[in-house]
Amino acid sequence: MQKKQFIQVNTKSKAYKVYIDSVNSELLQKYTQNKKVLIISNESIYKLYKSYIENLIDSKNANFCILPDGEKFKNMKSIEKILDAAFQAKLNRNSLMISFGGGVISDMTGFASGIYERGIDFLSIPTSLLAMVDASVGGKCGINNKYGKNLVGLFHQPSAVFVDMFFLKSLPKREISAGLAEIVKIFSCFNFSALKVIESKTLQDSNIMKSLIFNSIKLKAFVVENDEKEKSGLRALLNYGHTFGHSIELECKFRTFLHGEAVAMGIIMANVLSVKLGILHPKIADFIESKLRSCGLPTRYKIKNVEQFYESFFLDKKSVDSKLHFVLLESSFSLGLSLESMLETANLDSKIKATLRNDIDKKLIFEVLNEFC
Ligand code: GLY
Repeated sequence: MQKKQFIQVNTKSKAYKVYIDSVNSELLQKYTQNKKVLIISNESIYKLYKSYIENLIDSKNANFCILPDGEKFKNMKSIEKILDAAFQAKLNRNSLMISFGGGVISDMTGFASGIYERGIDFLSIPTSLLAMVDASVGGKCGINNKYGKNLVGLFHQPSAVFVDMFFLKSLPKREISAGLAEIVKIFSCFNFSALKVIESKTLQDSNIMKSLIFNSIKLKAFVVENDEKEKSGLRALLNYGHTFGHSIELECKFRTFLHGEAVAMGIIMANVLSVKLGILHPKIADFIESKLRSCGLPTRYKIKNVEQFYESFFLDKKSVDSKLHFVLLESSFSLGLSLESMLETANLDSKIKATLRNDIDKKLIFEVLNEFC
């Protein structure tokens, strides 16, 4: 395991550390000292970890805003509640919000702290695997509305992130799988060979899990450092599986699947499109599907209404000038090669890369969607 217990993230707007498994009250105090603090959490997390958070944070400065649990509460009404709690607690420009929960809480805390008195600092203590490896790092803070997911929001980087593996012990298996979907996503795009270690057996090993988390955050840090506001196309690659995934979530009214599960099924749809385009080796697509399955994730979604599913792509933030944008994987292996020889290639990581495409023929998209009916 890595000796260094933190990952440094240097973006243009802020430099901060993501501490891995070294969370303690002294460390946290460095950030909270002499500040009014508002901790934002949800009912389930707060009930489970009330004493954890109270032991970690000096209670005389701490105020709480506890929201209902669930993606369906990631909306403007909850933001109003956080702002209300912040005004009630008389937070000032020097105050701090702390996100204590999964991706939903982390997004909303980032958003509310980004607009409260034109922006105050926030810290993140992610309690879900998905929030540890994705939502808490990089400062994307979006909320949902009737038009779709994360369509309202801002970029607001945290001042620090505290990842404590302790939370994984009590996390439902389904939530662990959902977080693993984001790990499979980022490895597929930027470090394909790292996927090899993912097996249902290895995932039981906490050291392996810790190094998967560490490596995913390092990759995410690299991406946001080089394209903080998703301008150059690099960060957009993190949306691999998300265009299809968001449409799955929308079709199910955000009720049926966890975000990571929808992303897993979205990755498969994106790969089917890549294979049809002839840019991805089918055995690489199968390999990724097998990895998602090892993580306990669903991989095949049954579309209810193909026309509507297609239309929902246009709500995606990546659609510019009515052009659909898809993040696809490209591999440069000849068709006859076996999976074993591909995986043994010395420069495997440079043989598979993610790419953003806006030139996909509508007919082909429908061909893909019709395969999932
Ligand atoms: N979750 C994708 C990103 O942070 O850009």
